[in-house]
Amino acid sequence: MSDIPATMTAMEIGTPGPPEGLRPVSRPVPEPGPGEVLIRVAAAGVNRPDVLQRRGLYPPPRGVTDIPGLEVAGEVVRAGTGVTNPAVGARVCALVAGGGYAEYVTAPAAQCLPVPAALSMEEAAALPETFFTVYYNVFMRARLRPGETLLIHGGSSGIGTTAILLAKAFGARVIVTAGTAEKCTACLTLGADAAIDYKREDFVARTLEATGGQGADVVLDMVGGDYLARNMAAAAANGRIAVIATQHGTHAELDLVTLMKKRLWVGGSTLRPQTVAAKGEIAAALRREVWPLFESKSLRPVIHARLPLREAARAHALMESGAHIGKIVLFTR
Ligand SMILES: NC(=O)c1ccc[n+]([C@@H]2O[C@H](COP(=O)([O-])OP(=O)(O)OC[C@H]3O[C@@H](n4cnc5c(N)ncnc54)[C@H](OP(=O)(O)O)[C@@H]3O)[C@@H](O)[C@H]2O)c1
Repeated sequence: MSDIPATMTAMEIGTPGPPEGLRPVSRPVPEPGPGEVLIRVAAAGVNRPDVLQRRGLYPPPRGVTDIPGLEVAGEVVRAGTGVTNPAVGARVCALVAGGGYAEYVTAPAAQCLPVPAALSMEEAAALPETFFTVYYNVFMRARLRPGETLLIHGGSSGIGTTAILLAKAFGARVIVTAGTAEKCTACLTLGADAAIDYKREDFVARTLEATGGQGADVVLDMVGGDYLARNMAAAAANGRIAVIATQHGTHAELDLVTLMKKRLWVGGSTLRPQTVAAKGEIAAALRREVWPLFESKSLRPVIHARLPLREAARAHALMESGAHIGKIVLFTR
């Protein structure tokens, strides 16, 4: 397409460190490879892993651009070899392994989903990273079923708000932990059945109390470390614990007797290094099971703040302040 420029503005990390290191630079517009599309980015979601990457703690996988950004929404402006779907001109949101903080990004066609008609580009940009992560861990791996109880740590985070919406949409009972009374209230407003201020209350005791002593059937854990033992104590018999982050440390002691007696399953995953085929399978499941809920207007992501792409540093500072509830989104124009 002739209106695609040779260069674009992208936000580069430069030297790992504080948010101010994020700065606008001019980079060549990338070329879509076989099986990929080029997207003109309207908006990009900000996620905690971007913050870790900026600090030098989460390097991009081999062969992936150093520009941060794991999710975008925009228009397909060029298709690589073999791609007919999505077509040029389609409005898509996409999970990318990097490069989202830019005016253009390439994405595997398999990782693109249509922008739901009821949502804006900014709302659609807030979907991929958390919806892929939550759907994969909670539903495809931990197999949460209607009527079961899901305990979500960090209920007001981007991941947490998505988990509340999805679990409620599929008929589960939801208990969350969050660090302030205001965040607990926000989670209850979103549909959580119980919210525990983890800084003031013991989440194990409160979870058992809220489930009549049974415990949670599934735990979505972004804390790790010493939370493993406490999650196992808060889990129901046949419970499943899905670990997706290690804010309290990467090592934990596993009590095998509790594991066996309660017949627990403990698993974990990271999304970014998975193959395009694996991410394509998650995309297909989301399109089939979740996307109809956007069209029927029963699902809408929680956006805390929208900022211009050039103010990515401010977006990171906001995320690091912990003041946000839901997602932070960057827009390009
Ligand atoms: N494995 C994967 O595939 C994958 C993919 C995406 C994200 N993640 C991880 O998922 C987490 C959330 O990501 P995000 O983008 O949604 O970030 P975010 O909005 O910044 O959320 C971080 C959350 O962690 C919570 N938290 C910290 N310590 C806690 C504790 N002791 N108990 C309960 N909650 C605690 C915070 O809650 P308060 O503010 O209430 O203290 C906050 O809500 C991050 O750790 C990220 O690295 C993993």
